[in-house]
Amino acid sequence: MTSEIKEIKLKDLDTKAFIERQVKGIRAKVGKGVAINALSGGVDSSVVTMLGHRALGKQLRTVFIENGIMREGEPQRVVKAFKRLGVEVELIDAKREFFSALKGLTDPEEKREAITQTFYKDVFGRIVRESKAKYLLQGTNFTDVEETVAGIKRQHNILAQLGIDTKKEFGYLVIEPIIELRKTGVRKVGKALGLLAEIYDRPPFPGPALAARVIGEVTPQRVAIVRKATAIVDEELKGTKAFQWLAILHEDKVTGLRGNKRDFGLQVELRCWNSTDAVTATPTRISFEKLTKMADRITDEVPGVVSVTYNVTKKPPSTIEAV
Ligand code: XMP
Repeated sequence: MTSEIKEIKLKDLDTKAFIERQVKGIRAKVGKGVAINALSGGVDSSVVTMLGHRALGKQLRTVFIENGIMREGEPQRVVKAFKRLGVEVELIDAKREFFSALKGLTDPEEKREAITQTFYKDVFGRIVRESKAKYLLQGTNFTDVEETVAGIKRQHNILAQLGIDTKKEFGYLVIEPIIELRKTGVRKVGKALGLLAEIYDRPPFPGPALAARVIGEVTPQRVAIVRKATAIVDEELKGTKAFQWLAILHEDKVTGLRGNKRDFGLQVELRCWNSTDAVTATPTRISFEKLTKMADRITDEVPGVVSVTYNVTKKPPSTIEAV
C-alpha cells in the first residue's frame, strides 16, 4: 500500500497547490453525488471537512458524534468553530449508546474495542448506511497507512469497520484527501485553509477520548470527574510548550480529610509530556507552584477528589495515556 501512495514531504508541500488539487479531485470523484464525513474536532478530520466543504458545499454532510467522553464544551465548540467558517455540522447525540457499550468494562483493550465498535458499526455505520451518500471522506494520513501496513493499527480498514461489504455496496467510494501527508503537513494545510490555531495546532488527543483517562469502569459520573480535572489542567497549562498534558482518574481510593472528617476519596494523577513524536517522552519540569495550584484547584473544584499526584516517569516504560 505504501508503495502505491507517495508521501509528500514537508519541504515539497505547497499548501495552496495541494488544496487546489484535492478540491478538484474530490469534485471530480463526487460529481453531483452526496458525500458524508465524521468530524471529531481533531486536526485530520477538521482539514478533511474543510477540503470537502470547499469542494462540495452542501453536497457534503458532516456529522459530529457526541459520544459522552469528550472534553468540556467540545461538541459545541467544534460546531461553532465550523459554523464561523460556513460549515454546518450535524450533532448526533449517541451518549447513551457509548455508555451502555462501556458498562461493566474495566479492561483497557475491551474499553477501546467497545468505543471503536460503537462508533463504526453502530452509530456512524448506521448513519452512513441510512444516508444517500455514495462517498465517504476520511482523514487517513500517511502515518496511518504505514502503521496499517506494519500491522500496528487497522486504521485504514474503514469499510470493514463500518460493516460495509464493498462487493454488495458496489459504487461506494472512500476518499482520503490527506493520505499523502504526515501530521505536520496536515497542520500546515489546516492553517492555509483558514482553520483557527486552536484547531490546526492542537495537542494530540486520543481516539478513545476521556475514556483513555479513566482507570476502571467508564461511567458518566466518572467521566464528569476527569472532564472537570482536564478543564482545570488545560486552563493552567495552555500556552506552555509541552507536547501534551492530561488528568487521569484512578480506580483506587485513598483516605483524605475534609472538614475534620475522614473522607475516603478519589485520586487524580496529572501527566505533562515533552516529546516530538509521542514515541518517546519525558515528564515536563513544571514548577512546584504550578503543581500545587493545580492540586488545590482540583481538590477544591472537583467533587470527591482528595489526592492529586504528578507522574515523573519517562516513556518508555510509561505510555503517554493511562489506559
Ligand atoms: P501512548 O499512550 O500510546 O500514546 O503513549 C501515544 C500518543 O497517541 C495518542 N493517541 C492515542 N493513545 N489510544 C491511545 O492510547 C488511542 O486510541 C490514541 N489515539 C491517539 C496519545 O494521546 C499520545 O499522544
